[in-house]
Amino acid sequence: MKENLNINLKNLSKFISFEEVIAHAQQSVRHIDTLNKGTGQGNDFLGWLSLPDDILPQLDRIEKTARHLNSISDTTIVIGIGGSYLGARAVIEAMSHSFSSLLKNKHHDVIFAGQNISEDYLAELLELLDGRNYSIVVISKSGTTTEPALAFRILRDHLEKKTGKQAAAERIIAITDAKRGALRAEAEANGYETFIIPDDIGGRYSVLTPVGLLPVAICGLDIRMLIKGAKSMEEITRNNKHAETNPSLIYASARNLLLQSGKPIEIMVGFNPKLHFFSEWWKQLYGESEGKDGKGIFPASVDFTTDLHSLGQYIQDGQRILFETMISVNDPVKKLTVPLEKNDSDQLNYLAGRRLSEVNHNAELGTTLAHNDGNVPIIKVNIPSLDEFYTGQLIYFFEMACAISGYILDVNPFDQPGVEAYKKNMFALLNKPGFEEAGKKLKERL
Ligand code: PA5
Repeated sequence: MKENLNINLKNLSKFISFEEVIAHAQQSVRHIDTLNKGTGQGNDFLGWLSLPDDILPQLDRIEKTARHLNSISDTTIVIGIGGSYLGARAVIEAMSHSFSSLLKNKHHDVIFAGQNISEDYLAELLELLDGRNYSIVVISKSGTTTEPALAFRILRDHLEKKTGKQAAAERIIAITDAKRGALRAEAEANGYETFIIPDDIGGRYSVLTPVGLLPVAICGLDIRMLIKGAKSMEEITRNNKHAETNPSLIYASARNLLLQSGKPIEIMVGFNPKLHFFSEWWKQLYGESEGKDGKGIFPASVDFTTDLHSLGQYIQDGQRILFETMISVNDPVKKLTVPLEKNDSDQLNYLAGRRLSEVNHNAELGTTLAHNDGNVPIIKVNIPSLDEFYTGQLIYFFEMACAISGYILDVNPFDQPGVEAYKKNMFALLNKPGFEEAGKKLKERL
């Protein structure tokens, strides 16, 4: 039987006891009931709970479309932002070759766009695409988000000039709402193939829909194994009312107890750069779900050992308002040992013949002890390896814990009212029709 993701609280014991966490988790079981019965805040957005089963009938078409894009183009531009971007990127980066874009024998590149409004980024992308044979996957639930809509307008124009309107339409896939939004209308008017983002799944919980799965499948990764991992975590967490054996409950409770004890900042730590975008996905999931009504834990992230040479100083010695959640991966994918050197001028011969993963693992253990000595509580989330199955487990584990944690905080974990503020100001400053008065007032303040 496959080992599962597990959670280790040993490095919390200086701050809160295991018994306290379990008692809190046992009290929080009611939030699982609330989720399953759909009686809590945001109960219109619970479709993600059963996605590991619900998505199965769509996998054939997702894989077929991915194969098709691979056969007609050498590059796919995936356009999207926030929940329509981070999940796919997190999974792809976790499992792809670290230098995939530079590999000579690679036959397909996935490049992200629409996640910023940088003129340089898009202009340079167009320069690259002049010499590429490319397709576009455009993802937007609302179909009206400015960043991806602008990128799509520019990239579609480029593609149509390159291939003609009809051929371009055959290379564009739209993932959007079933009925609403400008992207749905454009897709229908131009005959693009489409996938639907269900009404009851918000952006940041959508990685296991076509939003995440199509880009992941285009990269040749095993989406069935990703879903299998998520399904196994659903079985462990969704109906499990025994706090000791439900990692999502334990994690949600531990971090809320830490918040109550004066630790409002949580840092996600990885010891493998492949986890960088997984932390970015996690930050959006927790930041948008919890940060409202003046509440919430601020989610930050670091890549160790890289950041031990920058933010490590603050974590060790700065204000004691932090705790860490470390994703600990047991086995690397590749194997590399330290060579023996005759002169030992760098004095590293004591490591000769040993694997780099052993050095990294001991860096992790050393950091854990040092940070704990520096009064940083640490929650460890252990997985055996960074593959599709365990990435699926991590996704469902964190989603379930996030929903529970939001209910513990008594906020709606499925809305994001705060993201509208900058948009309104930007529209007003750009003289968007309907925003003229607001624009005048804002300009006086600049
Ligand atoms: O989590 C969310 O809902 C947001 O971050 C959205 O995903 C993001 O704003 C993109 O929205 P859309 O998919 O509608 O373009």
